[in-house]
Amino acid sequence: MKTAQIRQKFLDFYASKGHTIEPSASLIPHNDKTLLFVNAGMVPFKDVFSGVEKRSYSRAVSCQRCVRAGGKHNDLENVGYTARHHTFFEMLGNFSFGDYFKREAIQYAWEFLTVELGLPKEKLWVSVFEEDDEAEDIWVNEIGFPRNRISRCGAKDNFWQMGDTGPCGPSSEIFYDHGEDIAGGPPGHADEDGDRYIEIWNLVFTQYDKQEDGYLKPLDAPCVDTGMGLERLAAVLQHKNNNYDTDGFKSLTKAIVELTQEDSSIKQDNASVRVIADHIRSTAFMIVDGVIPSNEGRGYVLRRIIRRAIRHGHKIDINKVFSIA
Ligand code: ALA
Repeated sequence: MKTAQIRQKFLDFYASKGHTIEPSASLIPHNDKTLLFVNAGMVPFKDVFSGVEKRSYSRAVSCQRCVRAGGKHNDLENVGYTARHHTFFEMLGNFSFGDYFKREAIQYAWEFLTVELGLPKEKLWVSVFEEDDEAEDIWVNEIGFPRNRISRCGAKDNFWQMGDTGPCGPSSEIFYDHGEDIAGGPPGHADEDGDRYIEIWNLVFTQYDKQEDGYLKPLDAPCVDTGMGLERLAAVLQHKNNNYDTDGFKSLTKAIVELTQEDSSIKQDNASVRVIADHIRSTAFMIVDGVIPSNEGRGYVLRRIIRRAIRHGHKIDINKVFSIA
């Protein structure tokens, strides 16, 4: 299934469950001084979660473009060296604003993955916040998920917050097992950082609005904020264990390799090729959304990304690009 089809399937599934489809917002978080870039699908809905803004609906679904290259969620240095990190990615998310909570969030996610997409149940692993008996109970007793494939993790992994302030809460994550020939262990294990068990979906049970002094102010009504990386899901569905081998990246990495010297041994799986492919995507979308390279703030992040791409271009000797530039 192509990336574009997966995106549409997600939106259609949640629309069939009464969610309003919202188009992706700009990467620049207007009306929010706490963030440089939109770093999650929930950011455009921040004020709806906190109750400051009212909408005509209480359920929404979106595929939001995101940048994680500065601030609290910063993946820049990992890009190109892991199978799954990007400065720019698309986040599939469904949201409940005081409507449904943990039970439906988990049930919908399970139905989408195992029925709609037909993923084998035995390839999935789940984590829940260590204090969240309720979420584990729903997984085990209502979904029938085996308790021995559930990890209970601390706040570092299973308590999500957007930034230093704003909506936050405990989460339950769903992982896909890419198979025993790939190194890495399940969440909560010493070798969890490998590429075998990849987190594909984060279900956040948004219950608080974190204040500047750190106080977790309870929301009037509990909400749901989920985020699933489109690129990671595409890798699963295209039977690749690396996002850069999916259709969303292959044409870019192919074009980059074509720019290297004719006698070069550089292939599409080269780390520098992957870094450049990632950085082309973030650079293009940042510029489309109005960011220009500069010495500060967003513009400086963009400049760093461009510089990093050029440095990797030098590493693989793509002189053709430099002669154009
Ligand atoms: N907001 C949550 C995340 O970004 C879903 O992981």
